[in-house]
Amino acid sequence: MPHESQPGKFITIEGLDGCGKSTQLNRLAETLRADGIDVVVTREPGGTPVGEKIRAVLLDSATSGLSPWAELALMFASRAQQIEELILPALAAGKWVLCDRFTDSSEAYQGGGRQLGSAVVLEMHRLLCRGLQPDLTILMDSEPAASVARARRRNRAQAVSGQDENRFEQESRAFFDRVHRSFLEIARREPQRVFLVDARQDADVVTPQIVSEVRRRLCAGKAFSS
Ligand code: TYD
Repeated sequence: MPHESQPGKFITIEGLDGCGKSTQLNRLAETLRADGIDVVVTREPGGTPVGEKIRAVLLDSATSGLSPWAELALMFASRAQQIEELILPALAAGKWVLCDRFTDSSEAYQGGGRQLGSAVVLEMHRLLCRGLQPDLTILMDSEPAASVARARRRNRAQAVSGQDENRFEQESRAFFDRVHRSFLEIARREPQRVFLVDARQDADVVTPQIVSEVRRRLCAGKAFSS
C-alpha cells in the first residue's frame, strides 16, 4: 500500500557504497527546496536517535561475528523506528522525505549479498513497515569495484577523525557483485517505482537526469522557475 492518503512524497535513493548517492540526494533536496517544497533528508540505517545507535553497531568494523539474520533484524529495527518517528509524520504534514537507502538496500545487501534471499526481506517489510512504499526510488547504477574503492578511500579519511563506518566495505568483490545484481533485479521487477540512472557518468550529468525524472513523475501540475 503506498501512502495515497498522505499529502507528502517519499523518495528513496539506492546504490552501491561509493556510487555518489549522497551528492545527488543533497542536490535534489536543494532543487526541490528552491521550488518551494518542504523537504526532509534522512538516511538508513539511522535517521533517529535510536536508529543512529543501531547504525553505529551495524557499520563499525569493530562489530564482529554479527549473524546475517541479526544484521537484517537491526536494519529493520532502525527502519521501523524511523517510519514511526520521522517518515509518516513528515508525509502527513505534506513534506517530501528524501531517504538515503531503504528496504531495497536490505534486499540487495542482506537478501543478495548475505544470500538470505528476497522473500524474507519482503516479508519483514510487510510486517514491520506499515505498508509504506516509496513513490519513487532512484537507483544509481555503478561498477562494483570502482564504487567500493571510492567508499574505502572516503572511510579511511573519516577514520582519521575517529569515525569508523567500514564494516561493509571490507566485504569481498563477490559480495558486492551479488548486491549489484540484486539491485538490478529490483529495478527490472518494479520499473514503475524504480528509476535506474547510470552513475558511471559525471555527477553534473547525472543531476539533471534525476531532477527531470522526479519532476516528470511526481510534480505533475506544478509550475517551476527553471
Ligand atoms: P551508507 O551510509 O549509505 O553507506 P555509503 O555512503 O558507503 O553508501 O550505508 C551504510 C551501509 O549499510 C552500506 O554499506 C549498505 C548497508 N546497508 C545494508 O546492508 N542494508 C540496509 O538495509 C541498509 C539500509 C544499509
